[in-house]
Amino acid sequence: MSIFVTRSSMPLLEDYIEEIKPIFESHNLTNMGPVYKKFQAQLITYLNVPELSLFVNGHMALEMAIQALGLKAKGEKVGGGEVITTPFTFVSTTHAISRNNLKPVFCDIKKSDYCIDPDKIEELITDKTVAIIPVHVYGNICDVHKIENIAEKYKLKVIYDGAHAFGETYLGEGIGNFGDATMFSFHATKVFNSIEGGAVAFKDKRYGVPLHELKNFGIHGPEETNAIGGNAKLDEFRAAMGICNLKRMDECISARKAVHDRYFERLDGVDGITLCKPQKDVTPNYAYFPVYFDKEKFGKSRDDVFAELRERDVYARKYFYPAINDLECYRYLSGRGTPIAHDVSINILTLPIYEGLSLKDVDRICDVVLR
Ligand SMILES: Cc1ncc(COP(=O)(O)O)c(C=O)c1O
Repeated sequence: MSIFVTRSSMPLLEDYIEEIKPIFESHNLTNMGPVYKKFQAQLITYLNVPELSLFVNGHMALEMAIQALGLKAKGEKVGGGEVITTPFTFVSTTHAISRNNLKPVFCDIKKSDYCIDPDKIEELITDKTVAIIPVHVYGNICDVHKIENIAEKYKLKVIYDGAHAFGETYLGEGIGNFGDATMFSFHATKVFNSIEGGAVAFKDKRYGVPLHELKNFGIHGPEETNAIGGNAKLDEFRAAMGICNLKRMDECISARKAVHDRYFERLDGVDGITLCKPQKDVTPNYAYFPVYFDKEKFGKSRDDVFAELRERDVYARKYFYPAINDLECYRYLSGRGTPIAHDVSINILTLPIYEGLSLKDVDRICDVVLR
């Protein structure tokens, strides 16, 4: 049987039916209805954040989180500012910046956790820099304190792309409490899903108003539209799916942990293989299992291992390859190189990890890798 890099967690069908019954009774399908509100309240508690706004997906959540900050370079009416981010991410991060008429400026990553290297941020700051958008890659947490210090010193906004970091904590605090805002993705392939869905967590209540309005066309009142928004509302059926899946999070995380631990048992310490070590003071969610292959030492490249697995019906993924600054649509952005991001993107492979992946299958995958 084929093994894919992930498989969506699902609730019991009876639970879902129970949750959507009131929607059938009320005919209230969308526009921030009661199920949306219930889901929002539950997530605020689960993620331990002060405020949260729900969106149709993580991408629109990030795009509108940026728009709601009204970022622009000095002297510009709209946009024009530079945003420091990394090229080792999913295209969504960079697209969200660009679609706000802002210019992505790529900072290199750290080899230890593949997140932005805070020691390389300051040299990229210019008088046009308006924000930093770091990514908690694979659920590895960025150096939030160093980033906060830089942001304070230069008066920059910080929005975290936390698409991979759902439910994680750092030093006991919900990860959505850092920076001005944090985006989470509830896409079907993520640790937690509402089929499609996403959220922005934030502290400043006032920021909730533009966020709320932007996802509903910028409408402020029955006869007032104050901003050029779009339609990014999470509907009631997806909210119901989220409520059902949220109940199963502990089960889901411990199943992932078992898979993660087995990979570690089998692959840690092998010459030429580097695994992501659990980070100090972070409660992980085991979202991904990235493996870095050093061809010189291991004898085979990442692409060789990818092909071998594929031959045996195992579909690992080259997340994230190519690095964003190697993509056609971002070639126009000149700038300093990001050698570590480039190196990692050509040597890393994420192995299958999901609730329901048997340890026997994990062993089968490890056997192929080690052979
Ligand atoms: C790092 C990152 N950012 C943003 C997104 C966009 O999230 P969504 O698919 O929910 O729109 C994803 C995932 O798809 C992602 O992996």
